[in-house]
Amino acid sequence: MTDATPAPTPDSAPTTDPRAAGARLGAPLTLPSGAVLKNRIAKSAMSEALAGKDLAPTVAHERVYGRWARGGAGLLITGNVMVDEHALGEPGNVAVEDGRHAAALRRWAEAGTQGGAHLWMQLNHPGRQAPKSVMRTPAAPSAVPLGGSAGRFFGTPRALETQEVRGIVERFAVTAAHARAAGFTGVQIHGAHGYLVNQFLSPEANRRTDRYGGDLEGRMRFLVEIYAALREELGDAFPIGLKLNSSDFSEGGLTEEDSRQVAQRMGELGLDLLEVSGGSYTSPAMMGGNNDGGTYFERYARRLRDVTDVPVMLTGGFRSAATMAAALADGVTDVVGLARPFVIEPELAARAIAGQEIEVELPRVKTGLAAVDSTLGPALALPWYELQLARLGKGLEAQDRMSAVAPLVHMVRQHGPAALSPRRG
Ligand SMILES: Cc1cc2nc3c(=O)[nH]c(=O)nc-3n(C[C@H](O)[C@H](O)[C@H](O)COP(=O)(O)O)c2cc1C
Repeated sequence: MTDATPAPTPDSAPTTDPRAAGARLGAPLTLPSGAVLKNRIAKSAMSEALAGKDLAPTVAHERVYGRWARGGAGLLITGNVMVDEHALGEPGNVAVEDGRHAAALRRWAEAGTQGGAHLWMQLNHPGRQAPKSVMRTPAAPSAVPLGGSAGRFFGTPRALETQEVRGIVERFAVTAAHARAAGFTGVQIHGAHGYLVNQFLSPEANRRTDRYGGDLEGRMRFLVEIYAALREELGDAFPIGLKLNSSDFSEGGLTEEDSRQVAQRMGELGLDLLEVSGGSYTSPAMMGGNNDGGTYFERYARRLRDVTDVPVMLTGGFRSAATMAAALADGVTDVVGLARPFVIEPELAARAIAGQEIEVELPRVKTGLAAVDSTLGPALALPWYELQLARLGKGLEAQDRMSAVAPLVHMVRQHGPAALSPRRG
């Protein structure tokens, strides 16, 4: 990257020339806090499921993030880190609620910031999306169970008391303070995919009558208070991002119009980066397959520009350098976010910026047993990617021809039948 690299402008034409695409992808970006991302390619959050029984990060985290940092991405966002060790989204999550993991967090941060990469910790609380194997009675905005076929894997939640809500707000700030102390260079609030922040935003999940419920103003109060607590703890010069659903894609959930208003408010408050995603367990819009040539949430991102100038990171479906560069050139996004391609091709950022043609094809994850593939279908993809992350964590290469039988057996052995539950994002 040099100062001579042309900055992308919204009206410049998309290019198919790999060198021009590389220059565009390699342009730095200054965020509202003043932090500078060295380029426009971000590794989006992927739950690593690599923590030990103590819920601390391990040497596997260091290896995977070291590889990604050396692989050239400007921004690495960790898999969701839980703010409450009793409320996990799945076994193997890292949870940070005090200084116990300080040394391990420091090693993780050191590995993930090599070469000037930003490393942001994604902060999360699952709310009602804590599987039964982890928690019988999760706590949520209201006692509304998760619907759909995924619902049977989650207990019916109890409604949080008003003062408990404030307690969770403070937990986000505590976890963030430990992240910063360890050397993470930013944090991201997980406000998407049906987890607790998203539950508060959703009229379907949030039926509260106190100040955290009701109209959109009430439903976004939890998020706004988390943001304010983080800013107070971290100061104005530390980047804070948010991953937000463009829509929940489910009946009664957060609508696109409400989501735009949330985005607008967060922009006014000084948010550094808004990552656009969508969907949840019950409607996994974020987990489409090979979709290069148009990303899942592009239309929403385009309409965001009318209401806010918050920097945008569009995630979901990018597979080629040409499409990533075209999205930047078009102005629909400021940063391109990719998750699964980084597992298959950990060095994709450096290669794309160097002007190489990148085309990552995600393998079709299947066991070859028709009955299993048709019933478990996409649920197999998550353990498949987790097993690949475990390989990277051992210093091995990903195996893109791996059948889904191995991850299926591995997950059932590790976590019991609950491993077969459709999980996360
Ligand atoms: C194994 C796996 C774990 C994921 N874990 C998270 C997570 O912890 N937090 C999150 O916000 N999204 C998570 N996601 C969703 C990704 O960040 C991303 O939104 C989605 O995979 C679409 O991007 P892609 O098409 O580039 O893969 C996960 C995805 C996968 C495949």
